[in-house]
Amino acid sequence: MAAERPSIVFKFLAEWRTLLAARSLLAVLLMSDLCMSCPNSCNCKTYLYGKPTTICIRPSSSLLFIMSNLPDDTQNVIIEGMAHEKMLSNPNSSIVSLPQLSEFSFTIGLLERIEDDTFQSFFSLKKLYLYQNQISVISNAAFRGLMKLEELDLSRNKLQHISNEIFSPLPSLQKLDLSENQIKDLPVGVFHLQRNLNTLRLSGNMLGQINASAFRGILSLRELHLQNCALRELSHDILVMNSFLQVLDISNNFLLALPSGTSFQHLQILTYLNFSSNKISFLNDTQFQGLNLEILDLSHNRIEQIMQNIFQFASIRHLDISYNQLRTIADNSFRELGFKLKILNLSGNKELKTLTKQSLGGLYSVQKLNISSCSIKHIDNDIFHSSSGLQDIDISSNQIQYLPSVEYLSQLQSLKLDNNVWNCDCMIRPMREWLRTEQAAHLLQCQLRLQDSLNVPCVNIRCKTPSNLMHRPISTLADSEVPDCTPTIGASAAKIGTIAGISTGMAILMAVMIFVCVLCLRRQRKGQSLLSCCTDDNHKKGKKKKKNYYVEEKERYSIDPEKESLNESDKSFIVRNFFHSMVPDPEAVSRGTPSMTRRGSNGSWASSAFNSEPSKSDIGSFFDGYRMESAV
Ligand SMILES: *[C@@H]1O[C@H](CO)[C@@H](O)[C@H](O)[C@H]1NC(C)=O
Ligand SMILES: *[C@@H]1O[C@H](CO)[C@@H](O)[C@H](O)[C@H]1NC(C)=O
Ligand SMILES: *[C@@H]1O[C@H](CO)[C@@H](O)[C@H](O)[C@H]1NC(C)=O
Ligand SMILES: *[C@@H]1O[C@H](CO)[C@@H](O)[C@H](O)[C@H]1NC(C)=O
Ligand SMILES: *[C@@H]1O[C@H](CO)[C@@H](O)[C@H](O)[C@H]1NC(C)=O
Ligand SMILES: *[C@@H]1O[C@H](CO)[C@@H](O)[C@H](O)[C@H]1NC(C)=O
Repeated sequence: MAAERPSIVFKFLAEWRTLLAARSLLAVLLMSDLCMSCPNSCNCKTYLYGKPTTICIRPSSSLLFIMSNLPDDTQNVIIEGMAHEKMLSNPNSSIVSLPQLSEFSFTIGLLERIEDDTFQSFFSLKKLYLYQNQISVISNAAFRGLMKLEELDLSRNKLQHISNEIFSPLPSLQKLDLSENQIKDLPVGVFHLQRNLNTLRLSGNMLGQINASAFRGILSLRELHLQNCALRELSHDILVMNSFLQVLDISNNFLLALPSGTSFQHLQILTYLNFSSNKISFLNDTQFQGLNLEILDLSHNRIEQIMQNIFQFASIRHLDISYNQLRTIADNSFRELGFKLKILNLSGNKELKTLTKQSLGGLYSVQKLNISSCSIKHIDNDIFHSSSGLQDIDISSNQIQYLPSVEYLSQLQSLKLDNNVWNCDCMIRPMREWLRTEQAAHLLQCQLRLQDSLNVPCVNIRCKTPSNLMHRPISTLADSEVPDCTPTIGASAAKIGTIAGISTGMAILMAVMIFVCVLCLRRQRKGQSLLSCCTDDNHKKGKKKKKNYYVEEKERYSIDPEKESLNESDKSFIVRNFFHSMVPDPEAVSRGTPSMTRRGSNGSWASSAFNSEPSKSDIGSFFDGYRMESAV
């Protein structure tokens, strides 16, 4: 066809003097030009990633017409929104010949079927995109000839059944997207010739379960996307067979538990693991052993507790356990992750009522901590103590009464406090002071400055209780409104109650004793000695016994300067470390004395610190030592 043009031009030149003929010739020229030019609604002169590309948006001509009128050097064809073509079939290769075509996409259309040998003449094709059509039937030999195809996208179609022959002609396939179809079953060996497959997307199909033998033949799958597949379980075998996985997304399914035992140990290079929105209620304590992850998403499950050793021998950078049913977090459960964990999300755990320093113990390098929307009533004042690198803290939407101290967090960039129940009694004072600082103004983005006093910058954090101070900005409270917390009698109603109770009890006791003694004296006068306790001798003995008891007790509880104070080795430890704190030397600190190390750490940690093995626990005890040091 390309050869036609010069002949027409020649004809035109030969006959141009004949004016009458010229008119009819013009029509011929126009027609032949139309034949040659880029089809309607197409742009044939684009370059995409340096490749000659044709783009047709909602074309009205037929696919065959378009394909047979493209420039020969076209490498990339993009046809989108074609409203009439329902079937792709084998075109006559003498009409459609695009030897350099490497990408073809026919998307957002009404395709229903793909017949045998449709792409036979596109032997250079590397990428084929057929997403968002109505495809429900693909003949077994539809992809025959696509020896070089690396990427196939059939997502958002209506495929129900995948025959295990379909992908056989595609030995170079690396990425396959079958997501958002209606596939109910993956036949055994459906990918048996896809040795190079590295990315498989099956999300949004009603698979229910997957037989591991469906993955037979795949050698090195890197990404497996199975979200939204109504999966009830994830078999151990799938993980074992695909031990080169880096990304595994099983979110939005019905899993009740993670795969049993130590399946994840086979996945040495896994970096992304998403179990969000399942029904997992229990984490086995050996489950994550050996994992080295960038992201572990366990959000929107039913996990009730974090057990102590759950993250032992694991390493996770971003851990999301938001929106579960956490009630308890065992002390120091995150410590093993301490040096890697940067982001921890515990938000939305409505059963979580208290958060102690120990439950977040050992989060040495956490940068983002999200505990919003729980039901936290009590939070330790020094909760952030070991996490001095915190940058983002979200404790909004809880029942927190007093702000834990944050003033020493020099890296802090954002702090969310809203929706708590700040209790403006004497204990709010440190918070009030902090809210008056520039740091607070900056962090809480308090733009509202009071006109008359510039050193009261932050007025949008307000008291919830007591009722007389409700809605008052905490930073504006006067000293008289929040008196010092002095431990005087009558400081609180509860104290008064206790004291009143004790004194009443004592009064009654004394009355009873007086009564008994009066009774005794009377009987003695009458010469009776019915009650042995009332005889003089016994009285004395009793007194003596009592006295001895007191002496003993006193001895036992007296403050023995030798026994009670720190022992010598501890003292030298402190002195040593006082100087060491000027020149930080982890080694020296980790060599803590027995009594020092044991405090604030559990037995096994402390004892393992004695073994001179340079293990993880040595590093841990360094931090224990460090904490002790600051406590001293
Ligand atoms: C393909 O086209 C050529 C020429 O136009 C014709 O001779 C041939 O029969 C066609 N083949 C098929 C399978 O339609
Ligand atoms: C998986 O498929 C194989 C082969 O068809 C079969 O023997 C095995 O029982 C299947 N496993 C399950 C759990 O269905
Ligand atoms: C995990 O999957 C859920 C649902 O598919 C998604 O919303 C979430 O962003 C994913 N998590 C991460 C960390 O990518
Ligand atoms: C954790 O899983 C292992 C292996 O499946 C099992 O032996 C162990 O009892 C489980 N632990 C708990 C606390 O359920
Ligand atoms: C959990 O909190 C982290 C840090 O604040 C945030 O990046 C992440 O998006 C949150 N996750 C969800 C599911 O909102
Ligand atoms: C904390 O997580 C919640 C959802 O869990 C999210 O809406 C919020 O934005 C997160 N906060 C920050 C500071 O990322």
